[in-house]
Order: sequence, then structure tokens, then C-alpha cells
Amino acid sequence: MSTARYATDEIHGINFNADPNKNQYLTFILAGEEYGVDILRVQEIKGWDNVTKIPNAPVYIKGVMNLRGTIVPIIDLRQRFQLESLEYNKMTVVIVLKVINENKERIMGIVVDAVSDVYDITGEQIRPAPDFGDVISVEFLRGIATVHNRLVILLDIDHLLDANEMQFVSRRTQSVKVQETAIDADLLEKSFTELSQQGGLLVSRFYEELFKRYPDVKPLFSNTSIAEQQQKLLAAIKLVVANIRDPQALKNVLVKLGERHRGYGAQPEHYKAVKATLLDVMKELSGASWSESKRATWDNALQVVASTMLKADGNG
Ligand code: HEM
Repeated sequence: MSTARYATDEIHGINFNADPNKNQYLTFILAGEEYGVDILRVQEIKGWDNVTKIPNAPVYIKGVMNLRGTIVPIIDLRQRFQLESLEYNKMTVVIVLKVINENKERIMGIVVDAVSDVYDITGEQIRPAPDFGDVISVEFLRGIATVHNRLVILLDIDHLLDANEMQFVSRRTQSVKVQETAIDADLLEKSFTELSQQGGLLVSRFYEELFKRYPDVKPLFSNTSIAEQQQKLLAAIKLVVANIRDPQALKNVLVKLGERHRGYGAQPEHYKAVKATLLDVMKELSGASWSESKRATWDNALQVVASTMLKADGNG
């Protein structure tokens, strides 16, 4: 019992909550072994998704993912522990964790083979981790526990990246954030799939509302049929969503679209009007499934679209 306390509270300064002796752990599988992390540190679990690579990063830092606007570094735990690498597949998951590094909370994702279970583990069940030799460094380990006759290796996640690596990632992610304006592609695609069920209504309500709020823009559309225009706008939104992960392809299309819009008489303030109206109509049609994060994601995406189109004529 005293050994258990030594292995948890004293070495790692863990604060157990109400019951000082019991904690819940989420476990996952890595190369056939079961590992556990304190469930209070788990923010979410998601499927593997493509990441934006960080040049010159250590091999186990796979890149960064954009989680609803937060740029999160993703660590391949097999590579971190120098275990044999595995091709990612449908089972591969990313556990998003809150880690403490130099007194700051940071978010980090770990790629694991599969999520396994949730266990209550008491301090008495935890023993100091044996030396795994040069396979897994002791600084990553909190201890080992036996649960239902299975051995669970409990991790100390705060040391998966050291202070220098954290700084490196944090500096790099800053620049990624600036470049990408933090658009959550997953959320944008999901929201567009929902909205496109009523795509016709979306664009017809949009023009109705735009002309009601900003009657001055109506004459600009005098050379086109609104029905046709509605289809073109819907197709353009679809194109933006489809290419949101390929900024260069999107930029090429938008610059040309922006050049044509200059000819149509579109001004910077018109883009603001279009964005505000579109966001409100999207909210109207989404009903209860609308959320602040969806609004922020569309807002960011439309902002990138507008500024790219405006750059074409030297305004942005
Ligand atoms: C979110 C930004 C916008 C997108 C994605 C967009 C998309 C489109 C598309 C795809 C067309 C079909 C013609 C073409 O491809 O050139 C079009 C036409 C048009 N857009 Fe936009 N547009 C945007 C913003 C604006 C703004 C801010 C205005 C200014 C009020 C505007 C005014 C027009 C007009 C007047 C036409 C019809 C031109 C004609 O055929 O005579 N658009 N837009």
C-alpha cells in the first residue's frame, strides 16, 4: 500500500479527487499491450484523419489537426515508444488529451491502435512500473495495475513531449494557424451535407434576404436570371467545401471568380453583406442543429473566400 502511494501521489504529484484511492482510466491497445490514461485528461476520441505535417519535426510528431479551431499536435505513440509502426486503418483512433507542460495546459492527440475500456483503478492496484529497458522510458510511466487479471500500463502523459519539443510544436502551430485561419474542415463538410438537403431553399432564401436587406445590390444582378444564379451560387459553395483541404486549388478558382466579380461591380462591403446574410440564412435552415462552432467555421471559410476573391482586384 505504501508502495502504491509512492508510485502515484508522491513521485508524480497526482491530485486524486473525491476518493483519493480511486481513479478512472481509459485504456487503449498499442502493439498488443493495454495502456491507461487518467480519464479526466481525455478530451475526446476521434478517428484518424489527415494531419498537416510540420517540417523538421521528430518522426513521432505526425503533424497537427484542426479541432474546431484549436490546432492540436498529433503524436504517434508506437513511434514515440519505438515500437514497430503500423499502417493506419479504420480502427486507428486519436485520443485527444489535456496535458500539463511547464504549468500550462495544452491539447495533444495520441494515435493508438484501438480504444479498449474504462476501469476504476485504486491506488492499491498500482505498482511502480518495472524497467522496460530502452523500450519505454520510465518518465512516460506512472505505474502498472492489474485489472481483471489483465496488466494495464498507466501512462504519465505530461512527459510525452519534453519542454523543447512542446515549444517547437507550439511555435510551428502558431504559423499553421495563421496560414489556415483555423477552418474545421470536418465540421464544414458535415454542416454542408446537412444544409444541402435543402440547397435550393438555402440559395433562394439567401437572395430573397439579401435583396430585402440590401436593395442596392439588386441592380447588379439585372443581367442574370435569379433561378440560374441560385444554382451557380450553390455550386460555388459546394466547390469551396469540396476543396477546403486543398487551399491552393481553391485559391486558383477563387482568384478567377473574384476577377469576374470585379466586372459585376462587387465591392468589399458587398462581401460583408453576402457573408452576414448567408450565415443568418444557414442558421435559419439548420434550426436546432446550428451551433456557435458551425457559425464560426462558416464565418472563417467565407472570410477566406471573400478575401481571396478581393485580392484578385488588389483590394485585400
Ligand atoms: C461568397 C462569395 C461569392 C461567391 C462564392 C459567389 C459566386 C458566384 C458565382 C459562382 C457566380 C456565377 C458567375 C461566375 O461564375 O462568374 C456569381 C455571379 C454573380 N455574383 Fe457572386 N459570389 C460571391 C459574392 C458576390 C458578391 C459580394 C456580389 C456583390 C453583390 C456578387 C454578385 C454577383 C453578380 C452580380 C453575379 C451575376 C453576374 C452576371 O451573370 O451578370 N457575388 N457569383
